[in-house]
Order: sequence, then structure tokens, then C-alpha cells
Amino acid sequence: MQLRSDQWYSGEDRNGYLHRAWMRRGTPADAFTGRPQIAIANTASDLTPCNAHLTEVARSVRDGVFEAGGIPLELPVVSLGETNVRPTAMLWRNMAAMAVEELLRANPIDAVVLLGGCDKTIPSLLMGAASVDLPAVVVPGGPMLTGTFRGKPLGCGTDVWRLSEEVRAGTLSQEQFIRSESAMIRSRGHCNTMGTASTMALIAEALGTVVPGVAGTPAPDSRLLEAAHGTGRLAVEMIAADRRPSTFLTKASFHNAIVALAAIGGSTNAVVHLLAIAGRLGVDLTIDDFDRIGSRVPVLVDLQPAGRFLMEDFHRAGGLLAVLREVRDLLDPSALTVTGAPLVDALEDAPIWDAEVIRPRTAPVVAEGGIAVLRGNLAPGGALIKPAAASPELLRHRGRAVVFDSIEDFHARIDDPDLDVDADSVLVLRGCGPKGYPGMPEVSNMPLPTKLLEQGVRDMVRICDGRMSGTAYGTVVLHVTPEAAAGGPLALVRTGDPIVLDVEARRIDIDIPADELASRTPNAATLAGFAAPRRGWERLYVDHVQQADTGADLDFLAGSSGSAVSRESH
Ligand code: FES
Repeated sequence: MQLRSDQWYSGEDRNGYLHRAWMRRGTPADAFTGRPQIAIANTASDLTPCNAHLTEVARSVRDGVFEAGGIPLELPVVSLGETNVRPTAMLWRNMAAMAVEELLRANPIDAVVLLGGCDKTIPSLLMGAASVDLPAVVVPGGPMLTGTFRGKPLGCGTDVWRLSEEVRAGTLSQEQFIRSESAMIRSRGHCNTMGTASTMALIAEALGTVVPGVAGTPAPDSRLLEAAHGTGRLAVEMIAADRRPSTFLTKASFHNAIVALAAIGGSTNAVVHLLAIAGRLGVDLTIDDFDRIGSRVPVLVDLQPAGRFLMEDFHRAGGLLAVLREVRDLLDPSALTVTGAPLVDALEDAPIWDAEVIRPRTAPVVAEGGIAVLRGNLAPGGALIKPAAASPELLRHRGRAVVFDSIEDFHARIDDPDLDVDADSVLVLRGCGPKGYPGMPEVSNMPLPTKLLEQGVRDMVRICDGRMSGTAYGTVVLHVTPEAAAGGPLALVRTGDPIVLDVEARRIDIDIPADELASRTPNAATLAGFAAPRRGWERLYVDHVQQADTGADLDFLAGSSGSAVSRESH
């Protein structure tokens, strides 16, 4: 079998010598020509604590690769720690994807095993791998175990918001709040709610890029290492089968991912990531597909942030395959996985072991879940809402806008006792889109004004051109497109304008005459941040990032360039 890596290693000339000699370092002479070279793209980093254990996972992948006759090559790639990276990890997702793509293409490799976990790491790995189109398979790093505080489980992320709101409402002391900090992160692994990391691991499996049954395995569980070992072997087999992303990631795969996203009650962030991955593959996926395919799918998983349980419970209850078996009739049976077999073949033996955590189809958590796509004069390009995480009584609502021009403006004024806001008001936050912030931060689930919290208000309609943490909840209209900084009508809203939300009708509107809206110009504060001088990646990003409705990728990164490299400088 002719391998891509042979282009580097075969031949008795000076180039072959150079490529082999520098890689020898104890490696036997027969480790090069004709031996599959498997990169292990590893996002392990001390500054990405959710992924720090992936070095151990990589060792198991190495064993599997060796066993199958391949040569494992660990390749550290850009890693993004969601809680650390400023100004927001999403600003760097496309940079990480671009670096993964270029490193895979530039090096003598034949296939890649992708190790990710924390929110942006699996999306960036998949985006890069899709554009290079070498055989690629994901090993998700897995969620952490459930921590407890005062005898009760703590959902990381979700309970930080909940406890901090309790402090603001005066029902939890500051001292108790700080004491809960050391109980939040019990073990290695990523956040244990159905946040973005858990969602993207499960979605990667629903897409077919993970060996079925592996996603959701807790990070400290020895079965994760067993799966990593098996995935190393599989990566070698995928080369012989020429099983590249473009050969098995089809519209059918994305259809199944959308069904899975709805059934697990997954994060809204999956929408931008799936759109971006599809864009790399040339798969015709649109924002409306999420509503068309997913909005009538029942939510079967009772996990935080909207529900009760955590990922350790989810895995114990049967995991993704048990969920998918319940909605099997909604899946596209033609979609294949990295194994070469259809995804639905993995559902034969996938029982639910705990029907409180994973509900049967006959007793869903929410009858119709998924993500609703709204349009209207406030979001002509679309906006999202996750009805299952919203308050039912707010899904149809009319209220006065209280407008904030940036997240800093919001923080400066939200607790002003003189702020004219009540429970019916609609909080509008702009300047948080891909270009405006820049990087589309997770700020759409704005904290409520303290004075309303003290009155017992726990949810309000909120509208924003940014994203929302997958661990957050509430009646939040987000990903408003076009964003304010790109000239969207969100920039024209003024405090006091009546805003009308009607989720059933899929509408989000400012109820003012069209000619009045057309006559307005954005105020200077809305555009002030966007106009700041920039350099480096930030400049490249702001100049080229697309809107949320197509995945917020850079315009010049859409599509695939394949793995060919035509020139050699030696
Ligand atoms: Fe890494 Fe939540 S901070 S997954």
C-alpha cells in the first residue's frame, strides 16, 4: 500500500535520508517506509485543566497504534482552556482549527487520532481534520466525576451560576460560597453537566467520528484507556480502508447529530460548531436544519443545566447509544461511523439502565426539545432559543427593552438601584457577536438585576448577539444575526422599545413602525469597541470572521484543501 508518508520517507536520495535520519532517535529502520504514521493530536495542557490527563490517554492510543503495525507520533496542538483564555476562548477556536489543519498537512502522517475535551478543543480538532481530509478519529477526554458539597452533587458551571445568584439574592453566605469551590472539580476530566464539552463529545459520536459507545465515558474510568487503545488500532485500519472525513461525514451524519443534540438537551454552542465543521466539508447545512430536524425531537436526558443529573449518571444510565435507540426512527440509517458501519448498527444492544436519567420515548423530559430558530425585524438572519431551558410562561412575551452596549456597560449598570427595569423588561445586550466583542463570548445569559432577584424573579427574557455557556439556562435569545457590529438591527434598539418574543411563531421583533426603525442610526457606543485598532490574530479574525448563522468561521477557511503538499524545500 502506498502511504502519504512515503513521500517523505521513501527513496535513497538526500531528502529521504534527511526525513528518516532526524526521526530515527532510537526508532528502528523499518519504522518508516510502508508503516502507517499516526499523529496523536493532543490538546493536553496544564492551562487546559479539563484536558490535562490526555497525555495518559495518548499513551494508550500509542499502544494501540504500535500493536496494529503503525507508528504513533504525538503532536501537541493549540489547546484552549475555557475558564482561562481571555478575552474568550471562542476568539481562538478558528486559530486552533487553522493550526491543526496546517500541522496535519505539513507533516509526514497518514491518519490522526484527535484528543480533545474542553469546549473548543473537539470542534477545532474536527474543523482542522475535516479540511485536511486524512483518516481521523476522535477520543473525547471524558467528563469528571460528580463532586458534592454539603451532601449534594455539584454540577460544574451550572452550580457556579446558581450559587453566585444565591449569594446575590442573600440566601447563601459568601463564606459558604467560597467553601464550595474546592468541591466543584472532583477529578480529571471536563465539566460534568450537559454543557458544551459534554455536548460536543456526544455530538462527535453522533456524527460518526468517535467509536460508538465511547463518548461520555468519565475521564478517570479505565474503560476510556481501553477505548483509546482500540482507537489507536482503528486509526491504522482506517488508512487501508481510505476512511477519510469526506467519505463518511455526510448530510445524514449532521442530521443524526442534530437529532442527538435535541434528545440530549445539548448546548446551543453545538450549532455554531456543527455549522463550521459542515462548512469545512462542503456539507449543505443551514441554521434552519436545526429547527426543521431537531425542534420536535423529545428531550430524553434529565441532566443539568436544565435538569437534575450529571454526566457520571448519564454514562451509568446507558449513555448516548441508549438515547439514540429511543429516537432511532428519527435517525438517518445511511450515516456511517469511523468503524465503517452505520451508526444505527451500534444501537441494537443499548438499553437504558436508569430511566430517571435517560427517559424512554414514552415519558420524555420535554415532549419537543431542540433549538428553535427565530426570525423577525430584530434578527433577519436568525437567532436561537433553547425552549427546554427557558421558562414556559416567557416563551410568548412582550416587554420594554433595557439596552446595554457592551458587557462592561451591562456590569456597570445592571445593579444600579435607579435602573428602570422590572420583571417584564427584556434585557438586550449587544456588541457581543463574532466581530463586535470580538469572539462571540458566552455572555447572553446575563445575570438578573439584584433588586429583581431579591423580589424572587428567577428568569427574564434576554436577547444578545453573543453565545451562552452550555451550562447556563434561562429564556435567552442568542446568536442574533446579523450582530450589532455588522450592521444588524440589534444596533438600532433603544431602551423603552417594545420587544415581542413568540417562540411558537418563531418570531423576535421590535414593535415599532418600519419607517421609524429604518430612520435610526446605531449610537456611537454600540460601535466604539468594534472600531478599536487591532493587530495579529484579532485583526485577521475581525476582518474575516463570518456571522453565527454560518458557524462563525473565517471566510477563507471554509472548505477543504486536502492533504497534498506540492513543494519540498530540501
Ligand atoms: Fe473545560 Fe468546562 S471548563 S469543559
